[in-house]
Order: sequence, then structure tokens, then C-alpha cells
Amino acid sequence: MSDRLHTLSGYLYEYQKSVTQPEEFWARIADSFYWRKRWSKTLKWNFKDPDVKWFVNGKLNITENIFERNMFTMADRPAIIWEPNDPNEASRTLTYKELFHEVCRFANALKAKGIEKGDRVIIYMPMVPEAAVAMLACARIGAIHSVVFAGFSASALADRIKDCGAKAVLTSDGNFRGSKKIAVKGLVDEALEKSPVDTVIVYQRTHQEITMKEGRDFWWHDAVADQADTNVAEEMDSEDMLFILYTSGSTGKPKGVVHTTGGYMVYTKYSFENVFQYSPGDVYWCTADIGWITGHSYIVYGPLLCGATTLMFEGVPTYPDAGRFWAVVEKHKVNQFYTAPTAIRALQAYGTEPIQGYDLSSLKVLGSVGEPINEEAWHWYHTHIGKDKCPIVDTWWQTETGGIMVSPLAGITPTKPAYATLPLPGIQLCIVDADGNELTGNGVEGNLCVKFPWPSMIRTTYGDHDRCKQTYFSTYPNMYFTGDGVKRDHDGYYRILGRVDDVINVSGHRMGTAEVENAINEHPKVIESAVVGYPHEVKGQGIYAYVICDLTNRTEENLIQEIKDSVSKIIGPIAKPDKIQLVPGLPKTRSGKIMRRILRKVAENSLDNMGDTSTLLDPEVVKQIIEGRK
Ligand code: WT7
Repeated sequence: MSDRLHTLSGYLYEYQKSVTQPEEFWARIADSFYWRKRWSKTLKWNFKDPDVKWFVNGKLNITENIFERNMFTMADRPAIIWEPNDPNEASRTLTYKELFHEVCRFANALKAKGIEKGDRVIIYMPMVPEAAVAMLACARIGAIHSVVFAGFSASALADRIKDCGAKAVLTSDGNFRGSKKIAVKGLVDEALEKSPVDTVIVYQRTHQEITMKEGRDFWWHDAVADQADTNVAEEMDSEDMLFILYTSGSTGKPKGVVHTTGGYMVYTKYSFENVFQYSPGDVYWCTADIGWITGHSYIVYGPLLCGATTLMFEGVPTYPDAGRFWAVVEKHKVNQFYTAPTAIRALQAYGTEPIQGYDLSSLKVLGSVGEPINEEAWHWYHTHIGKDKCPIVDTWWQTETGGIMVSPLAGITPTKPAYATLPLPGIQLCIVDADGNELTGNGVEGNLCVKFPWPSMIRTTYGDHDRCKQTYFSTYPNMYFTGDGVKRDHDGYYRILGRVDDVINVSGHRMGTAEVENAINEHPKVIESAVVGYPHEVKGQGIYAYVICDLTNRTEENLIQEIKDSVSKIIGPIAKPDKIQLVPGLPKTRSGKIMRRILRKVAENSLDNMGDTSTLLDPEVVKQIIEGRK
């Protein structure tokens, strides 16, 4: 059943209702799902602990809402279209019925290996339909999945396995990525030496040689071989965990953001159909990886809950050439296309020639996510890809929010370049100044908070509820703090200005400065380091590292290369600093705190206004840093 809005006045009316009567509003949306047992109370909450429960005591299984609920009408409709890395390899289509059978078979396979409701399962897989099958099979049996982006290193994988106490890892022999072949199973073996698990299931993708450990490692095809293609779904409580997804913050190691079943289901479906204005029969394509929240909510759960056809792409935008995205749009007649500004900017650099010759007339809606989209990229996207006829939905949200929070509804909300525009129904935003005072009215700028719960919001950080409280609910009392700066203009439109904390957004991926510093500091020659973000033409932000080190027996160049390699190894290539400057010292206050403001200015190359440096222990250091800047 559709809860799609069709007009601006319809949106405004619904928004009003969602604020004045939030429980009635969400109960009405939730009623169109299949519940084994209806909830007894729609919402119980406080932001102090925090303790948020939606659809209290409701019983359901999210996969029954994807499959059984729609099976009569949609069995033969394509659920997943898969486009491989290599354009010469055949694409695959799985109908809802076929996908359902695959999910059941794999659910039975997991059960046969002893995986039970509540167990944690790590998914470290390429972008193949089996990755979605793995997620849904976990949800089917009530196991909690935690997808780890396959570009993360063995040690990042090991940390996540350990943190969530995973019982099994689902992976592949190798991954194809552009012209590269990545030896994934080798990385898993390395991770398991540090953090062992009972069971590993390996999907055969590249057919490269790997080692299989007797009794622990099984091939996917063997595991499902004798399994029935039916399975009775486990009954879950609304607030049972659906998944954990690790994300970086401004301090310490990545934290496991926890999402639960009922609210996440309701919100991802509702937001998907409204933002993208999906109509039955459309082909929708989100280019994210399932390792990120975008892949969870808007490749897998949201679209499939809507009965949509969702395209999964294994490759990269520039392989075999910079026209690949457009070749895929033409080949599969994509109607809604959702990507990140970093990809747009990267393709923009190749000019319009790679677009020529492709028929993009199927496109109806263009989406953007992950970082602020600059006006130039917005216009390029609008003109050259959307041919001035497709609305752009600039969707602001976070791993923690579970679903899109601020965005135009395609073709309904008038857009403005670089503005995420207006909140979705049910989302009560609030802008506060540094002291936590709410800034009311239009034409204001401050920190973005949310003052009322929404169904898909973070419930806790896995194994450490206090961290959730400290990170999101303590900065401003009774509010969820997003970490983003925002402006509300004279029309009441929202423009996201970027992070106000020590989080860097590199190509739409979140990195904590402390996390990168810790990785740099593991190099034996490094004494101390400080990392900041700086504007980068393609990536949005780049990583700039200032490092104090001991240069004996090393040249500067060697050491810089070694540090880059070591960060790649410890976190993954996405965390590799773009620039490393070896410095004699860091600008510190008398109390020993690094003045990042100064380091940011140097990295940005805006040297005329360094601000107040009088509290520095040694102002001379700043001069030396400026002289040596990269
Ligand atoms: C951070 C969340 C949720 C999607 C993928 C990223 C930034 C995200 C936008 C946007 C400006 C954006 C914010 C946010 N961000 N979308 N449309 N405009 N900034 O998820 O890794 O949890 O990162 O990405 O800074 O806080 P994430």
C-alpha cells in the first residue's frame, strides 16, 4: 500500500499533522504493514537516558513485509537487477519470488550452522545480490547483521568482529573492483587470527585461490545446496535489534550504531517512496555500497519494502571508462538515480564527452547524498544528467538517523541548489547556538538538532549505551545533536554546512580525526600527529596530517609513504592522508591542547587571518608550519 504524497500542500498538511499528532501519524503509516501482533503503544521516549521505543510490544518480521505481504501481487516483479563490475559479464535479475527463495535457503543454511536469533553476523562481501540475501536471511532468522564495507582493512574488520562478538563472518573469495581483484578471504583470515569466529561462509566470486579452514570455512554454494526454499520467519519484537553498523565519531574507535526492527522498517519505506516518488515498475538505482547506511536503507530495505526494483552495481564509476554510470542507466532504463557529490565531481572532471551517445531519457529523479553538494556540481548534474527536467533530491541524513531527514520530495518540493530544503514529515528540527538556545525564525545559522523522536533513529551504541548518551544526547539537553552546522534561510529552507566536530567527510565517507591520528601514531617513527580536513576538489574534504617524527635512517619521502601505507593497512585506503607534512612541533595551548583551528587554516591555505595565537605555548611553531606547508 502506498503512503505517497503528491502535492506540496499535501506535504505541508501531513507535516503539520506529524508534528501535532506524531503518534497518530506514525500509527497510521505503520498500519499498512503486516504485524503478527499489533503494538500496544506507539511511542515511549525520553532523550535523557536516552530511551526510545516505537510500536511498543508489536511483533513482526521485516522480511515478511518484503515478501509474504506482497507475494500475491509482486512475485514475478524484478526485485534486484545486478550489474557486474565487468560490462561484458551478464547482468542478473532476481524476481521477488526468486529473491525470497534465495533468502529462505540461506536463512536455513545459517540455522544449520547454528546461528540463532540474537547472534551477531558480520557481512564482508562485494556488491552482489548474495550480499542482500545475506542481510535479509539474517533478518529472517532474527540474527543481527553488521555489514563491514569490503574496502576496510583486516584490522578494522577484526575490531568490528570483536566489538559485536560475532559468531559468523559471511564473505567472498575475492572482489572485483574496476581493473583490480582484491583478495578478500586472505584479509578475513588475517582478521580472524585476532578475533576468531565459529563459522565463515564464502561466496565464490573471483574463483581465485584461497585457503579454507576445515570445520570453520564453508562455501556458500555448499551451505545452501540441500536447503529448502521455504522458511518460517522468526517473530521479532519491534525493538529487537535489526542491525549494527559501525561509524566514525570525533573520538575513539568507530561505534556500533544500533537500529531496531519496527521503526526502521516503517521509516525507510515511507521515506523511500516519498523522497524518490517511486511508482510501481520504475527501476531505481542507488550507487552506494551496502557497507554504508545508504546501502542498507536505500538499496535493500526501503526499496524492497516498497516492492521496488532496485539495481545493485558491483563496479566503480570510471571502469572501464567514465561513461559507465550512463551506460548502466541506458542499459537498464533507470528512472531514479541516487549518488554522491564526490562521484558527480569526479565525473565532471572528465567533461561531457563520456555522457554523449547515451540515452538518459528514462531518468525522472536524481538524488544526492553523503556530503554537501556544491552549486557547481548541482548545476552540472541538473543540466548534463537530468537534461534540466529531473528534480534533484539533496538528501541529508546520517548513519544514526537510519533514513533521510531533510530532502525535497521529488517533483513536489521546489528545489534550490545546495539546499536539502525541508524536513520530512515526522522530523522536528531545531537550530541551536553554541549555548544550546534555540534559534527561532528564519535567516538563522547554528547547530542542527532534532527535538522529537522519529521511528528509525539510533537506539544505542552497541555494548556502550553511555557513549550513545554522551555523543548525541548530552551536548544539548533533551535534543539529539547531529554534529552538523546548518543555515535556515529566509524561505525556511535548510542548507547543511558540514560537520562542526572533529569528523572529516572524505568522498561522503566519515572519518574521525582521532582515528586517523591513532593509526598514524602506530608507526614506530612517529612521535605525535594531528589530522584536519581541508577542501578537496573532488573528495569534498581531504585528509591533511601534521606529523612529528624521528627521521633517523629515513628520508622524508620514504617516511611519508610508509605512514600512508600503514594507515591504509590499519583502517583502509579511504583513510589514507592526502597530504602529510612533517613538522617540528604542533601548535599547543599552555594546557597542552592542540589548536586545530590553526592547523585547519594552514591546510586550507588561508593564512591572512590566523586568529588569536596569544595563548600558544610556542608561537614560533606556527611560523615553521606555515613555511613547510604542502
Ligand atoms: C554525515 C553523515 C547518510 C548518508 C551517508 C552518510 C553528511 C550526509 C548530506 C547532505 C550535506 C550531508 C553530514 C552528516 N551529509 N548527507 N545531503 N548534505 N551533508 O552517512 O557516514 O553517517 O555521514 O554526512 O555531515 O552528518 P554518514
